[in-house]
Amino acid sequence: MLENIPEIFLSITNKEFRVLVAIENQMKFHEWVPIEEIVNFTIFDRKEVEYILSNLAQNKLIQRNVQAYEGYRIYFEAYDLLALNAFVKRGYVNALGEIIGRGKESEVYEATGGIIDRHVIIKLHREGKMSFRHVRTKRETIGERRHLSWLYAARLAAKKEYDALVALYPKVSVPEPIDHNRHGIVMSKALGQQLAHTRLDEPDWYLDEILRQIKKAYELGIIHCDLSEFNIFVNPAGCEIIDWPQFIKPTHPNAQQLLHRDIDNVLSYFNRKYRIKRDIGEIINNIIT
Ligand SMILES: Nc1ncnc2c1ncn2[C@@H]1O[C@H](COP(=O)(O)OP(=O)(O)O)[C@@H](O)[C@H]1O
Ligand SMILES: [Mg+2]
Repeated sequence: MLENIPEIFLSITNKEFRVLVAIENQMKFHEWVPIEEIVNFTIFDRKEVEYILSNLAQNKLIQRNVQAYEGYRIYFEAYDLLALNAFVKRGYVNALGEIIGRGKESEVYEATGGIIDRHVIIKLHREGKMSFRHVRTKRETIGERRHLSWLYAARLAAKKEYDALVALYPKVSVPEPIDHNRHGIVMSKALGQQLAHTRLDEPDWYLDEILRQIKKAYELGIIHCDLSEFNIFVNPAGCEIIDWPQFIKPTHPNAQQLLHRDIDNVLSYFNRKYRIKRDIGEIINNIIT
């Protein structure tokens, strides 16, 4: 994993971006993209392409294979740069800031907005990355395109999360969706702090507020499915719920069970930390009717 994506991002030239796009594009057709295809796509001369490829490989953005023929593929980090570049070009981001969250399935950066003059959050999905090696053995599920599986998984998750935010905002307290590209999302920064890292003065009021948001989301056809004190932010005005890529619809066969689990996570937390007891059956009835 590269530690210095923001730095590398600043040092990448337009021509290097063009070569990355060429490889990304041609990976649809080749497991390892031959150098000729990169030359054709970019219309740079071969010597220049070779020079750029060696720089990119040195920066660990692309991988080179020389077994059958000389070919290239991009690493996840190059995909990050391509998404970031799209956000900058479209004017939604003008400077990348600190990394504020690095989980198994995402990398989250602060950034300053461009045309929208405020701080934003960039979430880069990582879904396929960990399972990439397992997926390789499951040939039948992705067939000939298995070398693209990580890219698809991360892109699908980002699209799904973005769709959820669009469906929910502003009726439900969630970050405002601003843009999405590839496996990345730009959204507003959640106000306040993570519930897990706060001591609430009025926990009953906040619990009611969180349950109200869950009900509104349900009414809009969305069940979170990964709700916990880490995915809820609290601020003086209320709460904000983040991290939606695994949502399901109320028509899903396991909807009741997963809604129950979400609410149970929240109730158990308030019980553990604030000794608040609520009847889960009553709450669920109130949500689904
Ligand atoms: N919109 C946001 N505003 C503020 N912080 C955020 C936002 N989105 C994500 N984060 C931070 O990044 C962390 C990881 O993001 P999250 O969406 O929960 O992904 P995951 O937990 O699946 O890796 C969060 O716990 C939170 O600290
Ligand atoms: Mg989370």
